[in-house]
Amino acid sequence: MFRDPVQSLEDPSFQPTAAAMRPLRVGMIGIGTVGAGTFRVLARNQALIAGRAGRGIEVVVVAARNLARAVSVVGKDVALTNDPMQVATHPDVDVLVEAAGGTGPARDWVLAAIRAGKHVVTANKALLAEHGNEIFAAARQHGVAVAYEGAVAVSIPIVKALREGLTANRIEWVAGIINGTTNFILSKMRDEGVGFAEALAQAQALGYAEADPTFDIEGIDAAHKITLLAANAFGMPLRFADAQVEGITALQGLDVACAEQLGFRIKLLGVARRRQDGDADGVELRVQLALVPATHLLAHVNGSMNGIMVKGDASGVTMYYGAGAGSEQTASAVIADLVDVARLHGTHAAQRVPHLGFHANAISDDLPVLPRAAVRTLHYLRVPVHQAQQIEAVGAWLAAQHVPVAQVQLACAQHVPAGGTPQVLVLTDAVAQATVDLAVHALGAHPAVAGPVVSLRVEMLEG
Ligand SMILES: NC(=O)c1ccc[n+]([C@@H]2O[C@H](COP(=O)([O-])OP(=O)(O)OC[C@H]3O[C@@H](n4cnc5c(N)ncnc54)[C@H](OP(=O)(O)O)[C@@H]3O)[C@@H](O)[C@H]2O)c1
Repeated sequence: MFRDPVQSLEDPSFQPTAAAMRPLRVGMIGIGTVGAGTFRVLARNQALIAGRAGRGIEVVVVAARNLARAVSVVGKDVALTNDPMQVATHPDVDVLVEAAGGTGPARDWVLAAIRAGKHVVTANKALLAEHGNEIFAAARQHGVAVAYEGAVAVSIPIVKALREGLTANRIEWVAGIINGTTNFILSKMRDEGVGFAEALAQAQALGYAEADPTFDIEGIDAAHKITLLAANAFGMPLRFADAQVEGITALQGLDVACAEQLGFRIKLLGVARRRQDGDADGVELRVQLALVPATHLLAHVNGSMNGIMVKGDASGVTMYYGAGAGSEQTASAVIADLVDVARLHGTHAAQRVPHLGFHANAISDDLPVLPRAAVRTLHYLRVPVHQAQQIEAVGAWLAAQHVPVAQVQLACAQHVPAGGTPQVLVLTDAVAQATVDLAVHALGAHPAVAGPVVSLRVEMLEG
């Protein structure tokens, strides 16, 4: 049994304020997957959470559209309303949990709560990636916290890792599989040899993909998340509009198989990399399909799971693995944020962990997101040719276009049946995207080439 959390505080000289002694009062907007999970876990682990937070955490009011459904989740002791704004500004609420989603009304509710002096917890990555700079500025002005661990790779405490655990480090890169839906689809394509459309249909049937999967399959959801991670890693504002975003819809099963032949797996990666070299000074911020060595840990993050790696100059590479979605999995992150708020409620804003890991005056407005042309990685090219013997001509032509060819081979017969178009597979050394784009464009007109050339980045993600 846990003792009364306030009495159990060990330092007898500690005099909590009246506000800190009573339970933290939560107002919640939305009681769907995340909201209901949060309510359930808060209720189930009540005493344990209070023991950690130093005080209880109670949901006192909930806004929902369907009140009958809401009462079936929260019971009769919690006030219910159809009006989210009432929850955001409710006099009995210390902290707003925004669990409705979207970027329009949610922005208004969150800003209203901040202006009313409430702390905010949200898992809404779209809201923060698009309006986070405004929201965090308002929170600073009003001395409240906006916490968002659930916005990125829910069961992985990656925001805490970057903001607190890794504070000693100059972060060199953050890269990861941060969208479970697309990882599920890519795993199906690889394991079962099915095409993208069939893998998507399976993901939808199993509830891993929404009826409208656009945000996931077009890479937008992952871009929201890598935008948040980049800001925390490098001390830059949220620059979602500058991120390069590619989805998985164009991926062909043939490339999944050819990548395997070369010793790689194809993953949708969010990558944020600090570049400070002769060619560039800024941050690569991108979501893309990429070949990852089959022996790499990230290549083994399968199904709907997430995996993130961070390279710090002192820590070296660290890796984080866990569920990227789910009701209680997200609740785990939302409640961790609530516990932080419960512990810190009443402290001066300057004593808290800053929203983006750096104090506002240390966030650099000058750090640019590098343009696509400047991104520098290894590349995979698949070039359909009329005759297998043309492999040499393709390799020589690419080298003449300043593409540093490292390996050239033909796709094996298992992937290209007899009578099919031969496929030349090329791996390059590191090269700027601009050089690859020019070469791929020109290669299309080469007489040996029998169809569209496929180009994908290769990420080695080495320590
Ligand atoms: N699900 C996950 O695994 C997960 C993981 C990480 C982050 N998130 C984020 O968490 C947020 C919520 O996601 P979710 O999956 O919980 O969504 P959800 O299951 O659709 O739940 C959203 C809830 O908000 C309610 N709502 C929407 N607009 C409202 C309004 N104007 N007034 C009152 N209630 C309103 C909906 O009510 P009705 O049902 O009555 O329409 C619904 O109950 C999103 O930002 C999402 O990106 C979700």
